[in-house]
Amino acid sequence: MSTPAKSHKPAYKIAPSLLSADFARLGEEVKNVIAAGADWIHFDVMDNHYVPNLTFGPMICSALKSHAVTASGQPVPIDVHLMVQPVDALAAAFADAGADYISFHPDASGHVHRSVQAIKSKGCKAGLVFNPAASMEVLDWVIDDIDLILIMSVNPGFGGQSFIDSALRKIENARKRIDASGKDIRLEVDGGIKTDNIARIAAAGADAFVAGSAIFGKPDYKSVIDAMRVELAK
Ligand code: DX5
Ligand code: ZN
Repeated sequence: MSTPAKSHKPAYKIAPSLLSADFARLGEEVKNVIAAGADWIHFDVMDNHYVPNLTFGPMICSALKSHAVTASGQPVPIDVHLMVQPVDALAAAFADAGADYISFHPDASGHVHRSVQAIKSKGCKAGLVFNPAASMEVLDWVIDDIDLILIMSVNPGFGGQSFIDSALRKIENARKRIDASGKDIRLEVDGGIKTDNIARIAAAGADAFVAGSAIFGKPDYKSVIDAMRVELAK
């Protein structure tokens, strides 16, 4: 009898990215995508400095917080992805605005350990984000302090880009690091995720999936999220 595979995932999380939502109806979009089965709301913060695009800040996050609940009143985590430099002041502002997870790019912080502690001291979960060509060596020193690793499978800044296949190797590498750490750390992937590649991404070791255009680009969010779950169950 074969040994069952080590189970590392409490449950898969699907995190629709508001970057592809209708910005004129953001509150409604949050409600609709939660009704469609979203587990987390992914909130992409771009500063036109670290990345060549500009999105939304803590005031918008705060305004959406009351919409991030299920029909039965359960809060749905807000997963803030900071693409900003510097990190610490905005991270603190997002913690005050109701963020649950706050992730940042280590290359955007002069003092990564300090930024992680600043997020955690506010009671939020802290994540580190790795660009397609970024090394993950910093994890040798901070993995015990973080709650989430976010692997970018596109270059950050825009929705609707194609998945970069080398991210699969990076996900496998991150999964090994998480398993070796023995910690409860989420492994999230962001960029180019669709119904037809989500199973491969899960097989590489991911357990949380950001999807912007794949979900908000279709009229029926639930059918996309359901189809993703069917793929994940395979
Ligand atoms: C890109 C953002 C992503 C983006 C993904 O910089 O971090 O979260 O919304 O969009 P899709 O799913 O369309 O690739
Ligand atoms: Zn993102």
